[in-house]
Amino acid sequence: SRSIDLAVIPGDGIGQEVVTQGLKVLNAVLPQDVKLETKEYDLGAQRWHRTGETLPDAELEALKGHDAILLGAIGDPSVPSGVLERGLLLKLRFAFDHFINLRPSKLFPNTATPLAGRPEIDFVVVREGTEGPYTGNGGSLRTGTEHEIATEVSVNTAHGVERVVRDAFARAAARPRKKLTLVHKNNVLVYAGHLWKNTFDKVAAEFPEVTTDYLHVDAATIFFVTQPERFDVIVTDNLFGDILTDLAAAVTGGIGLAASGNINPTGAFPSMFEPVHGTAPDIAGQGKADPTATILSVALLLRHLGYEAEAVRIEEAVSADLAERDGKHARTTDEIGDALAVRVAS
Ligand code: IPM
Ligand code: MN
Repeated sequence: SRSIDLAVIPGDGIGQEVVTQGLKVLNAVLPQDVKLETKEYDLGAQRWHRTGETLPDAELEALKGHDAILLGAIGDPSVPSGVLERGLLLKLRFAFDHFINLRPSKLFPNTATPLAGRPEIDFVVVREGTEGPYTGNGGSLRTGTEHEIATEVSVNTAHGVERVVRDAFARAAARPRKKLTLVHKNNVLVYAGHLWKNTFDKVAAEFPEVTTDYLHVDAATIFFVTQPERFDVIVTDNLFGDILTDLAAAVTGGIGLAASGNINPTGAFPSMFEPVHGTAPDIAGQGKADPTATILSVALLLRHLGYEAEAVRIEEAVSADLAERDGKHARTTDEIGDALAVRVAS
């Protein structure tokens, strides 16, 4: 019989609340014969305050044994900036070689967005997940003086660029519109820019059915707002992808709806699914957080594990739920989770 062995990292702030709803919907959507096992990991700000640890080796090892990871959100104002980001979240993405950071954007019905009523928006950003300026390759000279020099080197390898570009072409080829846009800044970042563009052009020859396009990242931000329907699949580096996907979320219904998957397509390590949003400490513990982004991340998780029909059921439930959303009565985190659990079960 089938089974899913899931690691759960609720994390900080609203992380716990939204993950509870994600698991509720996961339980509701899974067929009876699928055995779901979950193991919760206590990682994040509280753990760090208690023990000074971010991600001990023993836990990193244990996480490797699961089929997938569901993560809520990591970070707290009481922890110095970067400690948990680098010591936990990025450590997981790097250790498990999550080179595909998949971030779909869809204009859902009835959502508050400057683009409501526009033509259909349905694109996916394939953000590189293990390289670029995120590698921690930098330093500071004459620190603290008026002559301080800080560097933050963007690392781009032929291997790393080719595997993400190839994955993006394959995703584009599998979609109806078959269009792939490379976003970079190769007029200024010439070394990395040329590696990306050359790799893109080389792999393009293997996918003649895919229409290709190139945009500088600054121009891409204009089109995200003025003409988002022009995008189908976008491939870009780690930092450009980080920034573009927050913008994408803002224009397609808000960060409360944006899902993501940190994927290792080789299956060598578990992939990790998480909402794009952060811990929102200002509303934590009040039942105000929208769990939809986490629930849509559960759909990506199910798709990754081969449960396509269940993934679609969740996505259709979210569309239907949003279509009927009554803006006058704000629902609690729990109420939204309950409503979606009922929809996917029926
Ligand atoms: C994200 C976040 C992270 C990132 C931070 C918290 C390290 O902004 O998942 O988009 O920059 O990737
Ligand atoms: Mn981000």
